[in-house]
Amino acid sequence: MKNKVLKVLFLGLIFLFVSVLFGCSSDVSNSEKPGAQLWGENCGRCHNIRPPSNLTDAQWDVAIMHMRTRANLTETEAEKIATFLKAAN
Ligand code: HEC
Repeated sequence: MKNKVLKVLFLGLIFLFVSVLFGCSSDVSNSEKPGAQLWGENCGRCHNIRPPSNLTDAQWDVAIMHMRTRANLTETEAEKIATFLKAAN
C-alpha cells in the first residue's frame, strides 16, 4: 500500500522534472535564434513584413538602425536580422 503511494509520488516528481526541463529547452532565448526567425517574429508586428529584396544592403543598415529601437531588439538580435536580410536580398 505505502509502496504504491511512493511510486505515484515518484512518477509525479519525474513528470514535473521532465516538463520543467522540456519547457526550458523549448524556450530558446532570443539571442540564440537565427536571424531569419528573429526577423519573422519581430519585423511583422507593426507593419507588413518587409522582404529582404525590398532594400539594398546599405538601406537595410539604415532601416535596422531605426527598427532596432522600435522592435526593442538587442544589438545581437539586430545584427542577426541585418545579416540575414543582407544575405537574402
Ligand atoms: C514597434 C513597431 C515596429 C516594429 C516591431 C518594426 N517596425 Fe518597421 N516600421 C515601423 C513604423 C511605424 C514604420 C514607418 C511607417 C511605415 O513605413 O509603415 C516602419 C517602417 C519600416 C520600413 C520602411 C522604412 C523606410 O525607410 O521606408 C522598413 C524597411 C521596416 N520598417 C523594417 C522593419 C524590420 C526589418 C523590422 C524588424 C527588425 C521592423 N521593421 C520592426 C514600426 C515597426
